[in-house]
Amino acid sequence: MPNQEAGTDWRNDFKNLTPSEFFRKNKQMLGFTGKIRSLTIVFHELITNSFDAAEEAGILPEIDIELKRVDKEHYILRLKDNGPGIPEDYVMRVYCSMFAGSKFRNIQSRGQQGLGCSGCVLLSQMTTGKPAHVISCYKENGEIKGVKMKFQMDVKNNRGILMEREDYPAESTGVCIELQFKEVSYSLAEQGAFEYIRRTMIGNPHAKITFRDPSGHKYIFKRAADIVPVLPKEVLPHPKGVSADDIMTMAQNTDSRRYKSMLTSSLSRMSNKRVDEISELTGIDMNKRPKDLTFPEAEAIVQCFKKMKFMAPPTDGLIPIGSEQIEKGMKQILKPEFVTTITRKPVTYQGGVSFIIEAGLAYGGKSGRVVKEQRKSEIMRFANRVPLTFDAGSCAITEALKSIDWKRYGLKDLDNTPLTLFVNIISTQVPYLSTGKQSVSPEPEIVHEIRQSTMKLARKLQKHLRAKKAAKEKEKRSKVFEDYMPVIIEEAAKLGETGVPEYQEVLAKVTKRALAELLGEKVEEEVEEEELDAIIMEEVDERGNAVEEGNSSLDNFIEDDVDDGFED
Ligand SMILES: Nc1ncnc2c1ncn2[C@@H]1O[C@H](COP(=O)(O)OP(=O)(O)OP(=O)(O)O)[C@@H](O)[C@H]1O
Ligand SMILES: [Mg+2]
Repeated sequence: MPNQEAGTDWRNDFKNLTPSEFFRKNKQMLGFTGKIRSLTIVFHELITNSFDAAEEAGILPEIDIELKRVDKEHYILRLKDNGPGIPEDYVMRVYCSMFAGSKFRNIQSRGQQGLGCSGCVLLSQMTTGKPAHVISCYKENGEIKGVKMKFQMDVKNNRGILMEREDYPAESTGVCIELQFKEVSYSLAEQGAFEYIRRTMIGNPHAKITFRDPSGHKYIFKRAADIVPVLPKEVLPHPKGVSADDIMTMAQNTDSRRYKSMLTSSLSRMSNKRVDEISELTGIDMNKRPKDLTFPEAEAIVQCFKKMKFMAPPTDGLIPIGSEQIEKGMKQILKPEFVTTITRKPVTYQGGVSFIIEAGLAYGGKSGRVVKEQRKSEIMRFANRVPLTFDAGSCAITEALKSIDWKRYGLKDLDNTPLTLFVNIISTQVPYLSTGKQSVSPEPEIVHEIRQSTMKLARKLQKHLRAKKAAKEKEKRSKVFEDYMPVIIEEAAKLGETGVPEYQEVLAKVTKRALAELLGEKVEEEVEEEELDAIIMEEVDERGNAVEEGNSSLDNFIEDDVDDGFED
């Protein structure tokens, strides 16, 4: 009991902490640790929101980002999207209230928690004391409205304080946000913001991003695909994936009048017949009112679910990127010598949550990462199309890929192979290990699926490498042929007392075709690659002039040079 006499009465100090106050003290839980990482997380939160909003409105996402350096470790970030915008009444709720959002449904989206952008505003305010500037243009009653707002976060009350507001002449819908940050660092390293954008484009070939970096260089990442991804449907939870507490929550929030209708309307694969079976097995009267449901009853129902057999959950709520699109994305960014991709069938983890694993493997070209002038293998982890940049060690994807015996696929030194491995998990409920959403829980079913899909791709690579090796051998042999053929032709011409015919062009064609056949390639493929080259990425310098190949600001980049200030 509190000791009032001794003056140590804790009741005097007892108070409720708002979510904003909690995260102000624990910003690392939002992923804000280290200077490079903090800035990358800000990019991640704002880009994922823009993508989610545009796709939900059926718009092909297009984002303009500008990062200006004010001083060392002090930046202004401006991000403009072409989504549906945010109605004025919601702007401060979106950016200043934590645990507020529109994605708390059982639906596949990049956002899940209602924390992302308010976390960015919090970090900005904590490091600079500066307000947020937002322009939102949205449709209301068929008309486009625009508003320009300046506000701060009231951390104590988990809401916003409006400082300035004016009408804005809107032409099209979208949001533009400007935030300042200190104690952050822009970097080209693997965990930096630029690499985050590059990876985002591989997982989202339907998007366009323009990025002006602090040196004034502008990068235009063009679309590789022109189709807005099909909108995922909301799916009801599966009986095998719910807990007693979930059933209690459903009972408290349902409009149904009976246990029976509550179960059939809140869960997938639950018919009246199945509820009757549960009633028989548990002895629970299913005609009672949901508000009377007790915890032991909920526990008994869940235990019963565990023993029953159900059809797998419906999978129309899951929309994968698709192996063709992944291939486009990987070709666009990596220009590989060989690429292969796969999208697996939906399966479930924890008995009732469905997920799909997609994987891609690119070899050669710009695959892998350059470290000290050598190309090394790299793993690109994604969840619902979002690159996961941090906390790789604890992630299901890393665990699965590390457990594969790569030597069996002819890769004796995986680390030093120019290889990019791409893995994406699609689910309505990605089992993230923390609120920072950077690593996926190693559920046995997830690890199994990742292993299976990657091993399939590795087998294809092995085939390609074998064919390439065989082709090299043949090439050596055909070189002998190429060396001797002219001598034979010339000698034959002498013997036949005729002139030497024009044979060079025919000989070159024959040897080229034979080599292509051996590699299993189409001869036309060279043309495709040239076209691809032209649409890859444009770089423009601070004066707006195109930067020629070889003069890119990225060319002289050595990873170790820019690893300043990164504390992880
Ligand atoms: N650019 C945007 N355009 C339109 N609506 C947006 C935009 N950014 C955010 N929103 C709205 O604001 C809500 C809150 O965004 P926030 O990033 O905080 O959470 P979330 O995306 O729902 O989940 P998570 O914390 O996992 O990112 C979103 O659910 C969405 O409704
Ligand atoms: Mg978000």
